[in-house]
Amino acid sequence: MIESKVSVILIPQLKDNYTYLIKDNFSNKSIIIDPAEAGPILEYINKNDLNLKSILITHHHDDHTAGVNDILKSQNVLVYSPSYKIFGTTNLVKHNSIIDLDFIKIEVLETPGHTLDHVVYYSKKNKILFSGDTLFRLGCGRIFEGSIEIMYKSLKKIERIDNNTLVYCGHEYTLNNLSFLESIFPNHEELSKIKEKIIHQLHRSNSSIPFNLGEEKQLNPFLSTKSAFYETFKKNNNFNDFEMFSHIRKLKDDY
Ligand SMILES: [Fe+2]
Repeated sequence: MIESKVSVILIPQLKDNYTYLIKDNFSNKSIIIDPAEAGPILEYINKNDLNLKSILITHHHDDHTAGVNDILKSQNVLVYSPSYKIFGTTNLVKHNSIIDLDFIKIEVLETPGHTLDHVVYYSKKNKILFSGDTLFRLGCGRIFEGSIEIMYKSLKKIERIDNNTLVYCGHEYTLNNLSFLESIFPNHEELSKIKEKIIHQLHRSNSSIPFNLGEEKQLNPFLSTKSAFYETFKKNNNFNDFEMFSHIRKLKDDY
């Protein structure tokens, strides 16, 4: 048996945010992604005697960064982010940067749209992706700073990532996203099937995260419309890929 190299721990934050802690399974080294509140994170680190090495930030919104200040008061760590405007940033990341964090190498993809500074973090070897507020399960982030075209291109970058990847996104929005998709695609059988699975998951672990990227490419029309169901929908409405994205993103804004 090959022992997995890292574990990812979900630390729920605020109302529906997630901070993720990546831990080396062979030492006490760890890193965190998008700390909103320092308290629960420091508690976990102290309780498990972890050595926090770095903080990674996906974008500047407060609910992904507000914990940095208090964490830096007690931890001597590097802060990787896409902008020096983000408090505490020591190391700037950009598209295709590789962050070598000793026990894990993380690749950076710029995914503007939700904000212009947004990046996602990917470990090819560990097959994990931290998608911040760009990709959610069965949805995508609201476009605050970019254009629909920019957001579409960002999601296409994620679509190209290997199917066999587990995705950890910034919020627990899954049930709301699913209700929206059911409202516009009422005859989509695969969505009904996944609903049962998601409800079961939420009962069991209080979270629908992580999720499989390959499965998501079949179900999430913001990410991909290559499945048979969405191909038919596009054909019936005379939409190309981008028009379909634009159509559903606008509907979701008013949902
Ligand atoms: Fe955000």
